[in-house]
Amino acid sequence: MPSPVILVTGANGQLGNELRILSRGMNSFRFLFYNREDFPLGEYDKMRTVMASEKPDWCINCAAYTAVDKAESEKEICYKVNAEAVGILAGLCKEYGTKLIHISTDYVFGNGKASPYSENDEAAPMNIYGASKLAGERNLLKENPGSVILRTSWVYSAYGRNFVNTMLQLMKDKKVVKVVSDQWGSPTYAADLAAAIFQIILTGKWIPGIFHFCNGGATTWFEFATAIRDISGSNCEVLPILASEFPTKAARPTYSVMNTEKIVREYGLVVNPWKESLGRCLSNRIKKNETL
Ligand SMILES: NC(=O)c1ccc[n+]([C@@H]2O[C@H](COP(=O)([O-])OP(=O)(O)OC[C@H]3O[C@@H](n4cnc5c(N)ncnc54)[C@H](OP(=O)(O)O)[C@@H]3O)[C@@H](O)[C@H]2O)c1
Repeated sequence: MPSPVILVTGANGQLGNELRILSRGMNSFRFLFYNREDFPLGEYDKMRTVMASEKPDWCINCAAYTAVDKAESEKEICYKVNAEAVGILAGLCKEYGTKLIHISTDYVFGNGKASPYSENDEAAPMNIYGASKLAGERNLLKENPGSVILRTSWVYSAYGRNFVNTMLQLMKDKKVVKVVSDQWGSPTYAADLAAAIFQIILTGKWIPGIFHFCNGGATTWFEFATAIRDISGSNCEVLPILASEFPTKAARPTYSVMNTEKIVREYGLVVNPWKESLGRCLSNRIKKNETL
């Protein structure tokens, strides 16, 4: 019997890379890791051609327009990739019998709560990126309600541009860094998210709907940066500043911590505490740099 096929879009991104690394131990599947050129969200003929020829059993959609601040001035392309194309992808998955796992964001939430958001809480995005991702969720559920949406937050990995890599560079270059201390969220190591996605597939269960997945515990960017400094052994001083002192093009919620009880209950996933996962990422980063 042929091996089940898993198509991963956005394969060169943080999550795509972590899925690729984990896939090396999963020999009973055939993986298709497609980057922006191979599977461009928004080029519908190309998307259809791939889906029609491969008819994957699962599609993990990691591709997205993720430049949160830039999105404020690139609304059209952001919506095309994160909203319109997601609806088209969901329709194609339905047509070809592909189970779709789509990744969304805590930025669908606004300044509504000060306790962890559950999947039933009302979304109210504060920026274009969050609004485009919410529109993508809605298009997806309309076209293919049998899909799984995983909302995650504050994603980092040893690869690519993210808060951890930016902080490590700043801490190398500067004696002092100032970091926002009045926005709360849950950092998520992309390797843990990748493991959660594969675990969903490996359980053999398929429970459609929206799920929250992030590392455990809530923190601020300031506390996150302090932990990066401490674990990496840097001598850089980390100082707290208010979000109002660090204006960005896109507004961000003060609190976007998500409740992960549903995914733990339904899929039996384990949620690692954020600081423990950060430690693993930093030691993997050292190993990666040593082998370069
Ligand atoms: N990063 C976070 O903090 C965060 C937080 C919450 C949710 N998420 C969600 O998690 C998912 C994975 O994020 P990530 O951190 O892995 O993002 P990432 O590192 O920015 O990767 C996104 C990938 O999508 C690709 N891409 C962009 N536009 C595309 C298009 N039109 N067609 C096909 N591919 C396209 C990019 O290609 P290139 O490599 O060519 O640019 C990139 O490889 C996304 O859905 C994101 O919205 C991320």
